[in-house]
Amino acid sequence: MAEKIKKIALLTGGGDCPGLNAVIRAVTRTAILQYGYEVVGYKFGYRGLYNNELIPLTLDTVSGILHRGGTILYSSNKDNLFDYTVEENGVSVKKDVSDVAVENLKKEGIDALVVIGGDGTLTSARDFGRKGVNVVGVPKTIDNDLAATDVTFGFNTAIDVATEALDRLHTTAESHHRIMICEVMGRNAGWIALEAGIAGSADVILLPEIPYDINKIVAKIKERQKQGKVFSIIVVAEGAKSLDGEVVVNKVVADSPDPIRLGGIANKLAYDLEQLIKDNEIRSTILGHIQRGGNTSTYDRILSTRYGVAAVELINEGKFGNMVCLKGNSISYESLENVIGHTKNVDPNGEIVTVARKIGISFGD
Ligand code: F6P
Repeated sequence: MAEKIKKIALLTGGGDCPGLNAVIRAVTRTAILQYGYEVVGYKFGYRGLYNNELIPLTLDTVSGILHRGGTILYSSNKDNLFDYTVEENGVSVKKDVSDVAVENLKKEGIDALVVIGGDGTLTSARDFGRKGVNVVGVPKTIDNDLAATDVTFGFNTAIDVATEALDRLHTTAESHHRIMICEVMGRNAGWIALEAGIAGSADVILLPEIPYDINKIVAKIKERQKQGKVFSIIVVAEGAKSLDGEVVVNKVVADSPDPIRLGGIANKLAYDLEQLIKDNEIRSTILGHIQRGGNTSTYDRILSTRYGVAAVELINEGKFGNMVCLKGNSISYESLENVIGHTKNVDPNGEIVTVARKIGISFGD
């Protein structure tokens, strides 16, 4: 199996994430330096695979990109080739065009495909594997919500950014005796809120996994006031909701396979708290895509490099249909069949939440 590999391709799919370039670089360098493979990259994720839009990846192409967020291959979170929008007789219709992609791979002489993405992108990778394509997955997402790996790359950078934002909000909150609400991403998982909240010394952390009671938040703020604390910091995950409320939807992206974009709970919470608290001003900040942009953290540069090297090793060993992952401190791999659909949420009774509770952080419950 190993001897047959001559040429490999990469693509990055879904929302971008710090560390994508580091993975592209590690895959390319290992493939060329260790095994002499030719390496190409498809542009715009699966759309590029369908349109056969590719670029050569060489030691030169991947030079100087280790630290840079984003992806030199570009990405798309709309294009599922198993349910793809095409024009037929002037009408847009949804079709399974995956055979076109398989043919393109054959035409280009590509022996293996490295797919770097989250749940949606890796679902297609699994399905291409089922069609006989030699795929290897690499787990990406700032949300850290894939069960098959202890950590996805990109998460560490996101919590670093959110922690720095909380440090900055502290000083201005204190000056004005304000309650500052900071909304972070994470979709339906509260990992960013939880870890940045602890690292950024939040007083209240609100998670999708623990619906909140606004009266409990007010009680926490009052308790702080009694202790002479003139300001409070609340971190809220974009997917958080009150006991009797719904998540706040910012946008519906109709042509996306996963159309709901969360966002705006910080503003709703600020309004709701203003009805109950009169002695502090309340302000909200939504961090949004700032958590995904800019430079990649040291931890993510190393994790992404380890993942990229491991992906090429799987190819060399002929272990296709797998995703590289981190278990404890070791790099390992897991069948894509077991990866898909298994999300990882914060355990409300888990160790990290307990630690936070023990130091007095409120979860609004
Ligand atoms: O999955 C990563 C993520 O950044 C989520 O945290 C967020 O809800 C979503 O993507 C935002 O998507 P988009 O980039 O399409 O606005």
